[in-house]
Parts: sequence; structure tokens; C-alpha cells
Amino acid sequence: MNYKLPLNILHVADLHLLSARLHDKGDALHRISLQGDGKVLPYSAEIVEAFTWYVLRQKPDLLVISGDLTFNGELESHLDVVEQLHRIQSGGIPVALIPGNHDIAIASAAAFLKGSIRSAPSISEPEFLELYRAFGYDRARWRDPASFSYILELNDGLRLALIDTNTRLAPGRISPATLEWLDRSLGEASAQGETILTATHQNILVHNEKFTRGFIIDNHLELMQVLDKYRIRLNLSGHIHLQHLALTPEGLNETATGALSAFPHLMAHVTIDEELVLQYRTESLNVSGWAAGQGVADPNLMDFEAFSSQYFYGISALKTGADLLQDPSLSEPEVIRMAEFAAEVTRAYFSGTLHLLLQDPQRHQGYRLWEEKGRHLRFWHYLNSFLIAPLKNENELRLSLRPKP
Ligand SMILES: [Fe+2]
Repeated sequence: MNYKLPLNILHVADLHLLSARLHDKGDALHRISLQGDGKVLPYSAEIVEAFTWYVLRQKPDLLVISGDLTFNGELESHLDVVEQLHRIQSGGIPVALIPGNHDIAIASAAAFLKGSIRSAPSISEPEFLELYRAFGYDRARWRDPASFSYILELNDGLRLALIDTNTRLAPGRISPATLEWLDRSLGEASAQGETILTATHQNILVHNEKFTRGFIIDNHLELMQVLDKYRIRLNLSGHIHLQHLALTPEGLNETATGALSAFPHLMAHVTIDEELVLQYRTESLNVSGWAAGQGVADPNLMDFEAFSSQYFYGISALKTGADLLQDPSLSEPEVIRMAEFAAEVTRAYFSGTLHLLLQDPQRHQGYRLWEEKGRHLRFWHYLNSFLIAPLKNENELRLSLRPKP
């Protein structure tokens, strides 16, 4: 690859595509969706179709996907993802990706048809490579034999290291062999004066003190040591489905880009200019714009933003509502007000826009009600974890990739 600067990368994570052949938008899927985290599973295939439409029109120089391509690693879903990615590459946009923790050898891979849930085939590690060889692996200048990690030479001076932490032998971790490979490869690059940007699925830095186990790479400190050694400034991650920036002014920074599969369906524009200054800015995928262009008549798709926003809100409200109903001292209007507040706050938090809603929590009646009556409930602890650090705009970032002297 020999990109001229400025370089426009589109970065996304957590597509979680569930093939339309594996569900009938019926009861079985509905039940699973309500227990979920806001992924709009019934319209999963349409979201990715709209994404392809967007990418082909927007024409970034490179599309980078930080894993979790499928809902739960179903072979059928992978086949759909591969088809979409071939369309994107045929349109002249190279793709580079790594797997997430929901992509390979997933036991819960299933079909949701006629009201029942039946197990469906997933894929093995060799099958992953067979399917996705054309999306990064064929173009890699350096590849790790112990994982699906690799390094792309973006141009003379700039490299992108995609680090896989989801192998069968070391799930959720970076294995000693991969760490050694990375250390050696980055060492050589850095000795040649190359600037390096990295990407992972799971997080290296903490984005929320309450969500670390299972979200952060188990041995993230070891990985951070290597990245710090070569004074890497930015890692692009996903997985937590939270739009958030973990900032360390003198060291490694990390973007966690929200899930493409859940409201507000964020994608990150990452632009690197001639001075190696990087700008990161998110945008919501316009699914209804795509639907209008296709002449789709489904009202949920025609106003998808409202539908998906309400979908996320409804799932949050139901979950907190169930906790609130356990407390007999709360009146019905209190339960409703508290559940509504929790859903609104959770939706804004995961969209990276809580700073617009809750700059001064005490001014909100809902917050005061929670403080007075809900301190023993789960959401109160979540809410406090959202407010540990000062609220900021989580959707924009500007930093120099050049190592600090
Ligand atoms: Fe994940």
C-alpha cells in the first residue's frame, strides 16, 4: 500500500451480523433481543447492507474493522459479511480486519426460526482465514504465525498493526508468542523511524471502572508495556459497545468505537494528515437514507433512527424496571420515572453524549429520585461509574501520532 497523506480511514467495530437466513424476525429472536444490549438483531442484515451502500458512496481510502463481524460466529452470517466486504473491495476500497470474540468456534451459534432456537454451525480458525484472506491478510507485510495479527505498511513512514486477542489458545489475551512477534516487529519499524497506529477488538485501556473484566484484554498491561516502549499514541478498539475515548496525554490513547449494530450505529472517520496529526470523528449510519433509496416500505426502516433509539431505550427501561419492581416501597409513578431516567442516561452514555444530558446531575429530578430511593439498586452503581471522570465529548479527538520525545 502506498497511500498519500491525508489518509482517510473508516473504522468500525461490532457489526454482529445475523444472517436473514437464520431468523424470521419472529418470537425467538425477539426474546433474545430483549435480553441483549440493544443490538437491533431483527434488522441486522439491513444495517450491514446500508453500511456497504454508505462505504461505496463515501469511498474512504481504507476500511478497518475491529472484530465481532457476526452475532455469534454463525457460518451463514460470515458468508453474508464476506459477500458485503467483496462488494466494498470491488468498489475500490481495501478492507483490513481482525476477528472478535464472537467470530470463531462459537458454541452458541444458532438459528431463530418458527419460535425456536436451534444450534447452527460456526467456523474454525482455518475457515476464518479461508473466508477473510482477502481482507487484510493478503496485503499484510508482516504476519504473526500464532494469531490473526498482522501489520500493514500504509506508506513509507506509517504502519497499522492489527492485533488479534481472540485465538483458541489464548482467548481474551495476547499470547506470549504474539507479544514477542509484536515486540520484534514494532522494534524494527521503530528503528526505521516508522510511525505506528494499532487496532484491537477488546480494549487495552480502561473505559469504565465497572466494565473491565471481559472487556479489557486480560494481560493488557503487558501489551501496553510493548506499545509504550515504541511510544505508540493511539489504539483503535471496539467490543465494549460504548462510544468512549480513554486519553493519556503523554502516552497511549484509545478510542472505543460504539457498535455498528446498536444505536446510534456509529462509524469513525480517522484522518491522518501530512504532519501525522490524526483526527477522529464519529458519524451515525443513515439506515433510513439507504432504505429510502431502495424503496423499502418497512416503517421501522423508513425512520430507523427513531426506531433504533426507542429499541435501545426500551431494552434499558425493561431491565432497570425489573429491578425497580422488586422494591415494594416504590410507587408505580416512581418506578416509571426512575426507569425512564435510567434508559435515557444509558442510551446517552453508550452514544458518547452523556455530557450533553447530565453535566449537572443534581438539576435532574430523575437523578435526585434515584439518589433518594434507588441507592441499593444496580443502576445507581452504573450511574456512578458513568460519572467518575468529568463528562466530555466522546465522539471527537485530535492528536499527533508522532511519538512524544
Ligand atoms: Fe466483542
